Parts: sequence; structure tokens; C-alpha cells
Amino acid sequence: MPEISITVNGRRHEAEVPTTTTLLDLLRDELDVTGPKRGCEMAECGACMVHVDGRLRHACLTLAALVDGSTVLTVEGIGEPGRLSLFGASLSRERELPGALPVIITDSGLFADTSTALTGRYVGNRTARINALWGVRNVRFVRVNGFDGLRAPQDLRRGFQLGVLAGRSLSVLGSTDDDIFVAADLYAGWAQRNTFIGLQFLGEGRQNYDANHWDGILGSGRAASYLKVTSRHTVITSFEYSGGWRHRTPFQLRLGDAQGGVRGYGDSRVVGHQRGVVRVEERWAWRSMGRAADVGWALFGDAGKMWAGDVPYGIDTPVRYGVGVGLLAALPARSRRLWRLDLAVPVTADEYAGWEIRLSSSDLTRVFWREPKDVARSRERFVPASIFNWP
Ligand code: FES
Repeated sequence: MPEISITVNGRRHEAEVPTTTTLLDLLRDELDVTGPKRGCEMAECGACMVHVDGRLRHACLTLAALVDGSTVLTVEGIGEPGRLSLFGASLSRERELPGALPVIITDSGLFADTSTALTGRYVGNRTARINALWGVRNVRFVRVNGFDGLRAPQDLRRGFQLGVLAGRSLSVLGSTDDDIFVAADLYAGWAQRNTFIGLQFLGEGRQNYDANHWDGILGSGRAASYLKVTSRHTVITSFEYSGGWRHRTPFQLRLGDAQGGVRGYGDSRVVGHQRGVVRVEERWAWRSMGRAADVGWALFGDAGKMWAGDVPYGIDTPVRYGVGVGLLAALPARSRRLWRLDLAVPVTADEYAGWEIRLSSSDLTRVFWREPKDVARSRERFVPASIFNWP
């Protein structure tokens, strides 16, 4: 096995590496330098780019043995490690035109809604704004295994991150609204090899000077803890929240939403303007089938509540409970993508909810909070989900 010596971000390292080890493997797996990411691993996405002796290289296709004696600079070597702040500005223009005639969707087609619940409720608008963006980040990464995947490696963010956007409407750019718009994205996390606690919250709203009130207010977020009881047993507890007030476009949250709702209530017709859900899940990585797959199973329970608020047809509910079991699989073994076959049962009576079987697949190792679709679709389109990976 060749022995090499390289300098990474000013620190010298000696290592024995097999001839097939890439520079990306060496940096991430041996030296714990996790800034270069594993993406396509075929020199297409650029997630692994590093400087080698001043020249930009794909670490995924560079053999570690060939950079013996070189100086490598990764993203961690730029500026003060882990700390980043940035400022920016943008111009945005948006036009929304809700349909004039509400319709009712039924199993046999669309029919005109002749009730007065929606008539004249939503009017079109045209906004043009100049926006200031500011972000600050102080984050380090902790390498763990089997938190959101079954046995997959994952980089957890330890530290905090805040992104803010503030925009002022300008009539000279064609805006018919007189407003100030504000959006923010906050993340904080603390991680060790066997424990992780994290929080993320996204919010936005608009001071409407024409009506002299705040509207278009939207907030969502997640607080979660992960505890690895053993290398194969993980307990995940979380609280997820979404809420919206005074929306200018149609907005409703669903108790049965596939991402944000209570499992077991997929067919429920309960809607509202706020939704809070507590989830508890115990996961066991059961066995590995060679390099083909990891297989595991989960027990879970959800408790969620809806508040009616100002959305059409919204209702207040007591706490609704759902429980279930899931069969989990990662293909191939140690894959970050987790396939699940879940069977969920509503514990509290609901006229439309019943047994629910759901097949899903997702990679949650790269995101702490994936905002449910019934929230995300109501966000102002020009707002970056995170200022640190926008546009
Ligand atoms: S991982 Fe995509 S270019 Fe290297």
C-alpha cells in the first residue's frame, strides 16, 4: 500500500492508502474533512471540487496516491473555518391571478362552487421589490452513521445558521402593492456521534401599508432529537409545526398531508390554518444482505392537532393519534436513500380515515427539515429556501 504525505488546509498528513482510494475518500473518510461532498462521483456535479497545488480538481476522480506531496485546499480552508457571512441584493417581480370562478372537485368531475365561501376572497396582485439578503453561518460537521438512513454515513451540522431577506415594494418597477416583505430561515444544531438535537424554522410575512396590517404570514419548522441507543437501534423524537394567516392566495393545511400530517389519516378531510404534530419513532437496522441491501423495521406513533383559523372550511380538532409499523430498506447497503413500506392506523375516530399503507422513498440525510408541500406551495416564489444554497 503506498504511503503518501499531503498538506490539507495547511495541516500535513501522512497516510497509507490503497491504490484505488480516491482523494475524496481520503479527505472525508480518513482525514474527516467533510467540506467536499459526495455527489455524482463522475465529475459532473462539482460537489467534490478542491484545489490541488492551486489547480481545481474533481476529488471524486483523483486517486489519492497521485497527489503525494501536494497541497490541497478545500472549502474549509477558505476564510475562518466554519464561519461565513454574506450580503446580497436582488430585484423580484411577481404576478398572481387567482381564477375568478371557484370549482368543487368531485369523483365525477369539476362543478362550479355556487356558495359564497370563496367568492371574491382572493384577488390578484402584482408586486415588484428590491430585496436585501443577509446570512450568517457558524457550522461544523460531525460524521455519524445510521441516523436518517439505516446504516448510511451522514454529516450533521453543529452550530447555527440564519438567513434573512427583506424587500420593499417599488411602484417605479410596476408594483401595485405598497408593502415590506420579510423572510427568515433559522437553523441550530448540536451533534455528537450518538446524539443529535436540531431545530429549524422558516417564516415570512408582509407589512401591507394599503390595509395597514400584516398578511401572507407563513411559518413552519421542526425540532428533533436523535438518540442511537446501540449501533442498530435509533430513537427519533420530533415536533413539527406549520401555520399560515391572512393569505392572499388559496391556503389550507391538511391533517392527512403525506409529509406534514398525522400518519394513518391520509384520507381525512380535516383542514386548518395551523398544524402541530409530535412524532416518535424507534428504528432497528435488522440485517445486511451483503452489499445489496440493509433491511430494518420501525415502530412509530404520531399525535397531531389542527386549528381552524381563517382558512376556508377549517375546523379545530382534538389531538388525533396514529400508530404504525414500517419495513425499511436501503438499496444498495449503506445507501442514504431509505425505502419504507408503512402500515399506519388512526387511533382516534375520523369519518374518512382508515388503514393506510404507504410506500415511500427519500434521502433525508442532507436536509433537516423538508417543508411539507401544502406549506411550500404558498411561499412567495422568489424567497430562497436557504440563502446558503440559493439560487
Ligand atoms: S462528486 Fe460530483 S463531480 Fe465529484
